[in-house]
Amino acid sequence: MSALLEQALLRYDGLPVAERFHVHARAFSAPLLAMAARTPGGTVADIGCGHGLLSALLALEDSGRIVHGVDPDSRKVAWARRALAGQPNVRIEEGTVEETLARGASGRFDAAVVCDVLYLLPESKWPGFLATVRGLLKPGGRLLLKEVEGDGSWKHRKALAQEWVMVSLLGRTKASGGMALKPRAEMARYLEDAGFEVREVVDLGQGYTTPHVLYVAENSVP
Ligand SMILES: C[S@@+](CC[C@H](N)C(=O)[O-])C[C@H]1O[C@@H](n2cnc3c(N)ncnc32)[C@H](O)[C@@H]1O
Repeated sequence: MSALLEQALLRYDGLPVAERFHVHARAFSAPLLAMAARTPGGTVADIGCGHGLLSALLALEDSGRIVHGVDPDSRKVAWARRALAGQPNVRIEEGTVEETLARGASGRFDAAVVCDVLYLLPESKWPGFLATVRGLLKPGGRLLLKEVEGDGSWKHRKALAQEWVMVSLLGRTKASGGMALKPRAEMARYLEDAGFEVREVVDLGQGYTTPHVLYVAENSVP
């Protein structure tokens, strides 16, 4: 295990076993280190931060980064706050991306990371969500959007079943009515329609049983 991941997971040692298990499962089932490695310095918004493991990696990797995690799930926000208490360059808030923007965060961020969040929203809300994320970014600011690719593979079908268990059966993930996994060309179009320039589409599925794909995009509109 990388020293950075080990350091981040240590933060969760004091949490109840179910929460620790959830965070460890995230650590080994999602390419969070690869996302952190591609995230620039400066001010970073972690939209839908959940238990805050990606926020922790971003903050611990670069003490000069200011990380602002936000999630509407009050339980997860409480666990994230507890795990990251005392880490000076990270702040966790309860709320949605729209509420963050409304709190005066317009154009403030060098980067936004959105990891496994968009597909939980109804597709009709994607354009508004992406436009709001863009509103948080400075001109030229970078979006790192990690999605699960709808490529028709067995990994795609397994991911759908897994999310159904997490959302509907166990209630561990709060969805907002969505569960659409898109092929990468279609997702790239959503990003472009929202005013982003897609710089890179990175296949991060290797070594995982989920077809992870990362879109690196820039807020191209001044
Ligand atoms: C699968 S978890 C991913 C958590 C974290 N990003 C990670 O990678 O570990 C999805 C998160 O999206 C959050 N979420 C759901 N609807 C949201 C919305 N409308 N705005 C922001 N976050 C949302 C959920 O509360 C949940 O914590």
